[in-house]
Amino acid sequence: MVVKFLVRACAVSVLFLALVSSQCAVADEHDGIADRVGDGDPVAGEAKSKAELCQGCHGEQGNSSGAEYPRLAGQYADYIMKQFRDFRSGARQHHVMNAVAGSIKDEDLADIAAYFASRDRVRSQQKKSNEIAEKLFVNGDMKRTIMACASCHGTAGQGSYVGSESFPAIAGQHKLYLREQLLKWRALERKNSPGGVMNLVAKSLRDEEIEALADYISGM
Ligand code: HEC
Ligand code: HEC
Repeated sequence: MVVKFLVRACAVSVLFLALVSSQCAVADEHDGIADRVGDGDPVAGEAKSKAELCQGCHGEQGNSSGAEYPRLAGQYADYIMKQFRDFRSGARQHHVMNAVAGSIKDEDLADIAAYFASRDRVRSQQKKSNEIAEKLFVNGDMKRTIMACASCHGTAGQGSYVGSESFPAIAGQHKLYLREQLLKWRALERKNSPGGVMNLVAKSLRDEEIEALADYISGM
């Protein structure tokens, strides 16, 4: 199943993406905890993420309760680090995180990212069924260059790690945050995905589809 999705992602990538095509040879998706946590030290990261106030907004274990603060628990450490560096360079814009990101050293960041990555993400008890979202998630709609979310984000939205590249976990993320990000990708207000892939995916999503996807994925 996983291989099928990867093959599909690769076929799509031949058309659209230099990035993913470089990974096509590697069809063995692996998702051990080591891939998630990376090289940092989660124990040191716990103290550092507290001292640097990350926990104040993102939650003690990375399971924030405020819907505008993305959950970092169970996220890939290298995705966390990439976003952080993108906030620092301005490649990703957000007034709070652009300010926060300036002050943390890279070695501390690796530990902090490892800590959040090692935590389990709290999942909603209530699975949401939604036909529109489910179809897009599993099959996409290639007529509109909407590639299946599952092919990169994993069949359960848990993210995936292919070669040395990670695709972020999105399942169990706050609905409001998911909706905001999809709207930003569509409006080209967020442009930091490799090869612009998320801008392409979101380009022709309709408002009601974004709403449906955000609702569905938050309940996964
Ligand atoms: C004052 C609140 C606040 C603090 C403190 C804070 N963050 Fe954030 N963080 C946010 C908000 C809000 C966002 C969502 C930005 C957006 O909507 O684009 C965010 C986004 C992020 C993201 C992107 C997540 C994703 O799924 O793409 C990462 C990674 C992150 N923060 C890491 C950190 C780390 C590490 C620290 C501590 C050094 C930290 N943040 C401290 C508010 C905060
Ligand atoms: C070809 C691979 C690919 C496909 C298909 C894809 N994504 Fe993504 N997506 C990515 C990558 C890579 C990122 C991380 C971009 C970055 O580095 O900022 C991402 C990021 C995201 C984010 C932001 C996560 C966060 O924490 O901020 C959301 C939300 C998202 N994708 C939703 C979707 C949805 C919904 C679909 C299906 C309609 C989809 N994606 C299809 C590759 C993909």
